[in-house]
Amino acid sequence: MFFDTKSSAFEIESLPAGFGARIHGLDLSQALSPEVVASIQQAIDHFAVLVFAQQMLDDGAQIRFARYFGEMEASRATVAVEKHRLAHPQLNDISNLNEAGTILAVDDRRRMFNLGNRLWHSDSSFKVKPAKYSFLHAREIPSQGGETEFCDTRLAYEALGTKEGNALMPLICEHSLLFSRAQLGFSGFTEEEQLRFAPVRQRLVRRHQPTGRVCLFLSSHIGGIEGMPRPEALMLIRDLIEAATRPDRVYQHRWSCFDLVMWDNRATMHRGRAYNDQFERRDMRRVTIAGEVSSLDEAIC
Ligand code: OGA
Ligand code: MN
Repeated sequence: MFFDTKSSAFEIESLPAGFGARIHGLDLSQALSPEVVASIQQAIDHFAVLVFAQQMLDDGAQIRFARYFGEMEASRATVAVEKHRLAHPQLNDISNLNEAGTILAVDDRRRMFNLGNRLWHSDSSFKVKPAKYSFLHAREIPSQGGETEFCDTRLAYEALGTKEGNALMPLICEHSLLFSRAQLGFSGFTEEEQLRFAPVRQRLVRRHQPTGRVCLFLSSHIGGIEGMPRPEALMLIRDLIEAATRPDRVYQHRWSCFDLVMWDNRATMHRGRAYNDQFERRDMRRVTIAGEVSSLDEAIC
């Protein structure tokens, strides 16, 4: 699909997997003009993943940049934590560090919970109004591993045959953080957490509003499909995720310190990759912009 990269206030270099781009020539710590914000908006609508290298942002600057694109999600989705490492209540701690800044112990509950980020997912798909954009900034990275991978769920839909795509259209999935964690054998949720993470309903096929393209709303948070036996539903989701994330359809981001990656959760899935998290530090921080609608309101017809 054609995208006019020349009209932008910055340089756009598209990435090889058929989506995603690297943006050159912007300093996100500075205030941005409405024209530049509009150009970034156009680019994210089209490419779904944008990489901005060498961005010297502190928490405040990261939040300020994200806020050009909407309202932040009201709360972070974590297991109960006595004291958070990051002061700002809307900054998600994507690290292997505790509140004292030291590496989480091997059996720490937060470490077990965070392993769920290594399953393919779309952020906050378990919320009634799932997330729109995520902004992940690298403050400290391991020497090996710890990449983040992305796939484009519009391309995933478009790769299906018409018949298969049509058959998926009416399906409604149940999403919960409890389901993704259960896949890894993590089940020690308190009653309060079980209530907080009760399943929500989302369409399997939705329309990506900015482009009008149809996408699969896939996520490892899916634990069932309405009206379908559970094993059949989970097998279908597994097959769809496998096809969506075929190696030639994936962009793997190998982090450099101070990279900022922005993605559209409505049109992508992502996952973190393993690293030696008992010996190396990885300090990543995420700001999430809330979606405005439920996918139930994004039916194709
Ligand atoms: C996230 C996430 C994966 C990673 O920040 O939402 O899933 O590579 N991160 O840390
Ligand atoms: Mn995530």
